[in-house]
Amino acid sequence: MSRVAVVGGGVIGLAIAWRCAERGHEVRVYDPAPGSGATGVAAGMLAPTGEARFGEEPLHRLLLAAAARWPAFAAELASASRIDLSYRNDGTVLVAGTDDDLRAVRRLVDFHRRSGLPVRPLTAAEVRDREPLLSPRVRGGAFLPGDGQVDPRRVARALLAALPEGTVVTGGEWPADLTVLAAGHATADLVPGLPVRPVKGQIARLRGDGLTHVIRGQVANRSVYIVPRADGEVVVGATEEERGTDTTVTAGGVLDLLRPAVALVPALAEYELVETSAGLRPGTPDNAPLVGEVAPGTVVATGHYRDGVLLAPVTADAIVTLLDTGELPELFRPFSPDRFAEVAP
Ligand code: GLY
Repeated sequence: MSRVAVVGGGVIGLAIAWRCAERGHEVRVYDPAPGSGATGVAAGMLAPTGEARFGEEPLHRLLLAAAARWPAFAAELASASRIDLSYRNDGTVLVAGTDDDLRAVRRLVDFHRRSGLPVRPLTAAEVRDREPLLSPRVRGGAFLPGDGQVDPRRVARALLAALPEGTVVTGGEWPADLTVLAAGHATADLVPGLPVRPVKGQIARLRGDGLTHVIRGQVANRSVYIVPRADGEVVVGATEEERGTDTTVTAGGVLDLLRPAVALVPALAEYELVETSAGLRPGTPDNAPLVGEVAPGTVVATGHYRDGVLLAPVTADAIVTLLDTGELPELFRPFSPDRFAEVAP
C-alpha cells in the first residue's frame, strides 16, 4: 500500500483521494477550503454529447468513458456517504431559439451523429412536449439521451464524508510515495510552465419548479444552459471569460445568462434569484485534461476545463491504476502533459 498526497480538494482531488483510500492506500488531501473552487460553482452537467466540440475528437472517447462510470460511481458514493447526490441520467434537451440557431443546432446534431454520439433530432412541438415551460417561439432542437447531471456541491460533501477522518489537512510535511497535484488552474503555480490557465465562468442560481431536464439552448447565437434539480434549484450558466484570476460577478455577465435563459423559458423570470457566483475552470491549449507524471513520484491531474465533474471518476480510477500497475490506462495516453513539451519553458 502507498502513501498518496493529493494537493487540491476539488471534485478531482477528492475523487482521487476517495478511490485511493477505498483501495487501502493512506491518503492526505491538502486544501484549506475543500470544494470551494470551481467545484462549488460548477453546474454539474454530465455531458459527453453536449460538451463534445468540433475539432476535439480525441476527447470524445474520454468523455464517453467517463459518462459510463457515473452510474456506479454515484451509487457507491451515495451509499458510502449517505448523501443524496441529486444524480440523474435522463437526458438533455438541446433547443434553438431562432431559425439561425436551428441551423447551427442541426449542424451540431450532424456532427454528433458522425462522431457516434447519441442524439435524436426533435421538432419544436417535440421539444415542448419534453419541457412544456419552453417558449412557444422555440424552433426545434434535439434530445441527448447520454447526458445527465449531478449536484457538484453534494458530490464534494459526499466525498468529504466518505473519506477517512483526518484525511483533509491544511499543510505539513509527509513522506508520500505519490503526490498528485490536482489544484485546478493553480496547479500552474506548483509546476512552472504547465499550460493550464483560469477561464472564468459566471453562473446564476434560481429557485422554482416546473423543469425536468437539463436544457442547453442557443438564442441569437448566445449559448446558455439551464440545470434544474429535484430540490428546486435551477443553475443557469455560464459565461466563458479570459480574465486571469478575477472572480467578480458582473451585471453584464449575469445579463448575458438570464436574457437567453428567459427567452427560452419565460417562466424563469418569476423564479427566485438565489445566488450569483463566478469560478475559474482549469483551461488548457487544446481544452483537454493534463494527467501524467511531471517529476518522479509526482503527477498532475488538472486541465479538466468544462468537464471536471464528468471526468472525476475516470480520472480517479486512472490514478488508482497508476498505483496498481505503475502506468496510467491507455485511455489517458493522449492527455499526458508531455504533449505540450514544446510550449513549456
Ligand atoms: N460544463 C459547463 C461549463 O463549464 O460551463
